[in-house]
Amino acid sequence: MTREEALESIKANVENKNLIKHMLATEAIMWALAKRLGEDEEEWGLTGLLHDIDVELTEGDMNSHSKLGADLARELGASEAMAHAILCHNEVHGVPLETKLDKAFFCADPLTGLIIAAALVRPDKKLASLKATSVTKKFKEKGFAAGADRQQIAQCSELELELGEFIELGLKAMQGIAADLGL
Ligand SMILES: [Fe+2]
Repeated sequence: MTREEALESIKANVENKNLIKHMLATEAIMWALAKRLGEDEEEWGLTGLLHDIDVELTEGDMNSHSKLGADLARELGASEAMAHAILCHNEVHGVPLETKLDKAFFCADPLTGLIIAAALVRPDKKLASLKATSVTKKFKEKGFAAGADRQQIAQCSELELELGEFIELGLKAMQGIAADLGL
């Protein structure tokens, strides 16, 4: 599957622009993580890009969310490893995180929300002027962007990454696609 094909399928299945931006942000972080950890950038990037492709199709049914996503990814030509990472990111299925890809994607997904929220409270609402240290401060404020699961983000430790480095890597990755994110 090429990135183009993945994007085409996303556009056919997802209307919500913010959800598409979330998937692009996750892709960027996954690409950077793969690069940092010496893993397959294309495979990890595409996993992040595709992971929520089924959100509108499943209409909030958490029992089918991610199962359908994994199936759609497979149909597009995703590897079993990619489909597994997509499936287990929804904890409802009780599928344990096994591979590095599973673990990386699991902690990258909520980091996008924290970074976007941290950018949006800045006067200029831009990623460019946002500092990793500010995001780390916001990480510690429990009430801030409470939907961005801190425990999940902190699981970057499973990849032997310090939280500060993970946040910095994620922020840089998202700054690189700021125009696509409209931030
Ligand atoms: Fe997501």
